[in-house]
Amino acid sequence: KSSVVIAGGGSTYTPGIILMLLDHLDRFPLRKIKFYDNDEERQKVIADACELIIHKNHPEIEFLATCNPEEAFTDVDFVMAHIRVGKYKMRELDEKIPMKYGVVGQETCGPGGIAYGMRSIQGVLDLVDYMEKYSPNAWLLNYSNPAAIVAEAMRRLRPHSKILNICDMPISIENNMLEILGFEKRSDIVTKYYGLNHFGWWYDVRDKEGNDLMPKLKEYVKENGYLVQSDIDSAKQHGDNSWNETYKMAKDIYAIDPDTLPNTYLKYYLLPDTVVEHTDPNYTRANQVMDTREKEVFTACRQIVEKNEFRGDELSLDEHASYIVDLATALKFNTYARMLLIVENNGIIENFDKTAMVEVPCLVSSAGPEPLFVGTIPTFQKGMMEEQVAVEKLVVDAWMEGSYQKLWQAIALSKTVPSVTVAKQILDDLYEVNKAYWPEL
Ligand code: G6P
Ligand code: MN
Repeated sequence: KSSVVIAGGGSTYTPGIILMLLDHLDRFPLRKIKFYDNDEERQKVIADACELIIHKNHPEIEFLATCNPEEAFTDVDFVMAHIRVGKYKMRELDEKIPMKYGVVGQETCGPGGIAYGMRSIQGVLDLVDYMEKYSPNAWLLNYSNPAAIVAEAMRRLRPHSKILNICDMPISIENNMLEILGFEKRSDIVTKYYGLNHFGWWYDVRDKEGNDLMPKLKEYVKENGYLVQSDIDSAKQHGDNSWNETYKMAKDIYAIDPDTLPNTYLKYYLLPDTVVEHTDPNYTRANQVMDTREKEVFTACRQIVEKNEFRGDELSLDEHASYIVDLATALKFNTYARMLLIVENNGIIENFDKTAMVEVPCLVSSAGPEPLFVGTIPTFQKGMMEEQVAVEKLVVDAWMEGSYQKLWQAIALSKTVPSVTVAKQILDDLYEVNKAYWPEL
């Protein structure tokens, strides 16, 4: 049985993940669940509700919520991290400041993602260090954002640490592919993919018998993007209107290279003008999330505690987060599961920087991930990835050296930014509001 600590215990994703973990106890048995956060008040609301749910249904599982790193990180097998340094208030600024200059405002892409990266590095670094101090044999499963910059920073700052960076976006898109193809489970298809985090392409999708499913997928994506009926019907994590728009837009980014199927995040780099045109600079994604998910989950948690009862429908089980259990199970039980992870390239993509952190399929065993060979990628993708990887590396340089110049270069090099002048204006505004979080430049 495993002991896990959820770092970012006060996140509104936490209850959905707890319900999901409890639903998968048969394959991933737990003896202890701990929450860790640096915001006691926020965590308490979520933790009190989760504690009630755990105790009523699985009294054998020990529970603890704490802001003390030693208590949190002692005796754990897995750290599951989804922290958000600066919370949604800072996400709002990450999105609104670039928008002021007509540039894409997004939490992980472009200048907003760069600003968030500058905040996140220290936060994740602290988690790695606590884990190494108090539970040196544990694994840190990180899905804190921006995962690309965090992964590059940890590669350089903590090259031997047991941290694995993973993203759910390709998983969500693959779930839509299943629906398009009429399959049930992710394990019914085998996919090949390469890229960076929030920046990649599928180039092969087959069923278990080896039949090529790309033609059918392409035909669908050409017309509808990845939008499927269950997105329209349901309120699953990536099922609100803004996500439906994103899924639909995949048809316009698909057209530029009909040999591959794109990650939806490429819309920010390939269609920045359209994205900006369709974003309200005064009401961005952060506002939407603060006005919906944040309010709903906190209200539900407060009610559960007040009534001292969990009916089961107040919070929704985040089944789409079961990839976290897939990953933990692979590490714990040596399953060699095939998963997309963000790992050092090291020749896996032959014609690409060996030191880049790339997102590719890996076989995961108790020894960690074993990336699968990709080979040579086409010039279009290679060119885009080279530019983007340079942005990510410059951000980490800037963080490590406290370099204003490097951060300016990073922003200017982002495909979302039109000029060095605009880059500087955005940088100066972002620096102004991030003084409490960024190293001094
Ligand atoms: C996807 C990405 C995550 C990102 C999330 C944002 O799941 O993989 O990295 O955090 O979308 O979703 P939101 O609903 O908060 O805009
Ligand atoms: Mn992601």
